Amino acid sequence: FAQKDYKLWLQYDQISNSQMAQEYNAEIKGIVSLGSSETSKIALKELELGLNNMLGNKIAVKSKFEGSNNVIVGAKSNLNSELLKTIQDDFNAINEEGFIIKFISLKNKKQIVITGKNDIAVLYGVYHFLRLLQTNKSIKNLSIADSPKTNIRILNHWDNLDRTVERGYAGFSLWNWQKLPDFIDQRYIDYARVNASIGINGTVLTNVNANALILTPQYLEKVEALANVFRLYGIKVYLTARFSAPIEIGGLKTADPKDIAVANWWKDKAKEIYKRIPDFGGFLVKANSEGQPGPQNYGRDHVDGANMLADAVAPFGGVIMWRAFVYSEHDANDRAKQAYAEFQPYDGKFKDNVIVQVKNGAIDFQPREPFHPLFGAMKKTPIMMEFQITQEYLGFSTHLVYLPKLFQEVLEADTYQAGKGSTVAKVVDGSLYKNKLSGIAGVANIGNDLNWTGHPFAQANWYGFGRLAWDPYLDAGVIADEWLRSTFSNNENFIKPVKKMMLQSRETVVDYMTPLGLHHIMDTGHHYGPGPWVSNLSRPEWNPTYYHKADKNGIGFDRSKTGTNATAQYASQVEKIFDNSETCPEQDLLWFHHVSWDYKLKNGQTLWNGMALKYQEGVNEVHEMQNTWNNAEKYVDEERFKEVQMLLGIQYKEAKWWRDACLLYFQQYSGKELPAGVEKPT
Ligand code: GCU
Repeated sequence: FAQKDYKLWLQYDQISNSQMAQEYNAEIKGIVSLGSSETSKIALKELELGLNNMLGNKIAVKSKFEGSNNVIVGAKSNLNSELLKTIQDDFNAINEEGFIIKFISLKNKKQIVITGKNDIAVLYGVYHFLRLLQTNKSIKNLSIADSPKTNIRILNHWDNLDRTVERGYAGFSLWNWQKLPDFIDQRYIDYARVNASIGINGTVLTNVNANALILTPQYLEKVEALANVFRLYGIKVYLTARFSAPIEIGGLKTADPKDIAVANWWKDKAKEIYKRIPDFGGFLVKANSEGQPGPQNYGRDHVDGANMLADAVAPFGGVIMWRAFVYSEHDANDRAKQAYAEFQPYDGKFKDNVIVQVKNGAIDFQPREPFHPLFGAMKKTPIMMEFQITQEYLGFSTHLVYLPKLFQEVLEADTYQAGKGSTVAKVVDGSLYKNKLSGIAGVANIGNDLNWTGHPFAQANWYGFGRLAWDPYLDAGVIADEWLRSTFSNNENFIKPVKKMMLQSRETVVDYMTPLGLHHIMDTGHHYGPGPWVSNLSRPEWNPTYYHKADKNGIGFDRSKTGTNATAQYASQVEKIFDNSETCPEQDLLWFHHVSWDYKLKNGQTLWNGMALKYQEGVNEVHEMQNTWNNAEKYVDEERFKEVQMLLGIQYKEAKWWRDACLLYFQQYSGKELPAGVEKPT
């Protein structure tokens, strides 16, 4: 049975490194749990499960601190005064969700304390402690105080009520609306547990292209049942609000946000929801985007819409996550400019409990995009990140692409909006402009597949997202290391090559799909496979030809001053760099510039030759990934080994498909031969 796949990164395999096993067995003699809440029981159970499995023997659970080397677990309010005294100062170093793990001396006996200001924080500490063992780190004399850097660490499920998942490639939705509320699938509990292990504290259950029915009592009682499960793991439930819900389920004639009856309808709806779910997180809203209803249908604007909803949830502490993913065919000269143009002027106009959710790039979750110009540009409005964990444009769940590399690249980007060092990470964790609200959202890649995410390595993207939401300054390599050790093996002969493969995999997909700043040339509709030739869709900005603009003279989208001037939306330091093809990073060249086929790249190649060689490099790299994986066979269980092997086989075939399709298509414009080293399309 698919045991291994299902357990994700919580495998808790027995420690095989004898030196570490010896250390852990010497340092950990017992567990003392001080709390009595449901969450404390969960923390204790997890600790027992993890320690017993990893240490290979049953650790005594004691009611008092008898002897030394007990792991003492409990929230601050459960610590006795003697214990509290030893650790009091450490509490100054953590926030409400932060934890402390510390070796202390109590009555001359060594003990290990895992604590925090509440039970959920303690649970985070327990998972962190277990992770140290899972990854074979020394625990001697530990002293850790760690807190999440963002408030809202949230998954966005694009799940429909019929259980289809928009852009979901791992089966159907986990939420079985038909059996809820009475049937609580074990999977809901496992989902909450796994998310808590990486510090995720929110989940939007429903698609951004929302169905108003979720807000009817029939569905709300099901949502309540899920919230009751998730609460114990520190996860708040949020829903998407369809802007036209007052008409569709409320019987009103309008959804105009300035209409009193509409505002009252939402106020009553909020009251109804909070009565069932007192810690309901709030609403995520896609309005006036891709045909979704919104305030503009009534001549109002985003501020009117968001603030009306904000008023409805404010009395209960709720939040409105208002998405800035907007573009329209009526202003099609450059889609990349529209969100900034529409939102930036509203800076400072949103209510305190509104946070604007912005995709990492200005188009749509491409293999590579320069950071979205809205980051840092709204100085009085909290902005949260929207990453896509599901691989809509990156080969669905058949291609191995380790996304934390992409996430890190965006988070590290310097917006210069408040001077040098104004990184995107500082915008989304709220530190740049001292925002009260901050957050990172990830469009979930989870479904009811046995292994949750379709591709075993797509589990790493869920994991990595959670870790970066907790700490946007973490390194993707460190995260890959943790994930591999917790999920597969601590053997260095496995870790080293496979980690290298993961870290390279994002650049590989860029190479064989969209090198040098190309974007949105996937086949249309489903976005799988190449389709640079498509030009017959009714909306101009849905056609791949709109994005690459290949012609006899060259290729690329001129967003510089000579073109659409999208570069002017960035801070002047960044604008200057992007605006000039010589200073523009080559990886973004065709995003910002239309250059000739003979344009000289930094390596001396012409653009045409360099591009062709990139496509070939991508193919070669997938071949290398196959070799790396084949060599890893002895470290991996047969089932996961074979799955990944088959998937890499598909990826190799499709990397060649991408290369051949794109080069043959672009060749009709370049009119040039393929350079040496590039395989001829068959
Ligand atoms: C993309 C995606 C849609 C989704 C939209 C959004 O366009 O293809 O399926 O609804 O993003 O983020 O709202």
